[in-house]
Amino acid sequence: MPEDNVDKPNMATCTAPVNIAVIKYWGKRNEDLILPINSSLSVTLHQDQLKTTTTVASSRSFQEDRIWLNDKEEDISHPRLQSCLREIRRLARKRRSDGEPGVDMTALSHKVHICSVNNFPTAAGLASSAAGFACLVYTLARVFGVEGELSGIARQGSGSACRSMYGGFVQWIMGRREDGKDSLAQQVEPETHWPELRVLVLVASAERKPVGSTSGMQTSVQTSCLLKHRAESVVPGRMEEMIEAVRRKDFTTFAELTMKDSNQFHATCLDTYPPIFYLNNVSRQVIGLVHRYNRHYGETRVAYTFDAGPNAVIYTLQEHVAEFVQVVRHLFPPETNGGQFINGLPVNNAVLSEELKQAVSSEPIPKGISYIISTKAGPGPRVVDDPDQHLLGSDGFPKKSV
Ligand code: DP6
Repeated sequence: MPEDNVDKPNMATCTAPVNIAVIKYWGKRNEDLILPINSSLSVTLHQDQLKTTTTVASSRSFQEDRIWLNDKEEDISHPRLQSCLREIRRLARKRRSDGEPGVDMTALSHKVHICSVNNFPTAAGLASSAAGFACLVYTLARVFGVEGELSGIARQGSGSACRSMYGGFVQWIMGRREDGKDSLAQQVEPETHWPELRVLVLVASAERKPVGSTSGMQTSVQTSCLLKHRAESVVPGRMEEMIEAVRRKDFTTFAELTMKDSNQFHATCLDTYPPIFYLNNVSRQVIGLVHRYNRHYGETRVAYTFDAGPNAVIYTLQEHVAEFVQVVRHLFPPETNGGQFINGLPVNNAVLSEELKQAVSSEPIPKGISYIISTKAGPGPRVVDDPDQHLLGSDGFPKKSV
């Protein structure tokens, strides 16, 4: 390395996607290693609409590891951040001792600065920890010259993050080993497999922050026998059916399993003691609307799923997007002077027939949904090559614009 470069940080910037499960992960058998009680399956959303961007720099001049998240310095001593840092460094050391090329020998002992931002409001209540930890692990690996299977490390940041390490349709195989080495994510089909599939995130105007998923699922494991039944007797069969539905692009089966699994997850929340409520009145109205819409056509055209919050995520096919969005507008009249109601992939206008309006109508809830993000399945984490996109300056500190 030339003399004048000796203090210049080694830097990488990457992006990673959000994923939305259609077979939910809920409950751990090991809290430290983040090992789940059941397998799960998700769709990786397109990063044009939702992504985390992370820059990691390592330099011998850094005194300590530091992290800035969405403009604010955060505590790096958080155990899950520490797990990811420790595991990447361990892997780098192992690769080096195995004599693998590409591992930066000097960087191993250096401290890192990490800077991360989301291109969507954290307040939207979307599972940002999945994209966040996936991006962190992917970028750290780049800086330390580590390649290969990384989902087992992302999992130790946040369970669902392991599924954000791949694009398209991804399963997280629960594994059986005590050390968690077989609890990994695996791509079922790439994002190009089902191009007609569309995703609409209906961002509900949430009033308060619900119980976090980490503590929520802990209480569920301790108290819900429905959760035990779900993990042991329902999910294994559902995983097989879901993988098959994805492979065959069988929307009806995919949609029905998605809705049933979301409903069962929320039933286990109600079976938790004290109970946890993630769905609110708007969520329940969306559920009713989807069923009335499907019933009107006598086929399953649209599916909903909900995570640990009131936002509905809708899966449908491209041909139904415009009409369904119009139906949502009809039931949840948007704020007229507010921001844009539809964001992301363009949605055409549609005119609703009187019969359809009649069939789906119920009492309108003005402003119940703040906005919609229209998106589709997308690729896994990516390296950003343009150095102008680094979130850290050459001094290793967040750039002003960050
Ligand atoms: C409802 O991955 O956020 O979104 O592993 O404790 O970080 P931790 O939990 P997290 O849980 C996600 C739960 C879910 C369902 C899912 O994504 O499968």
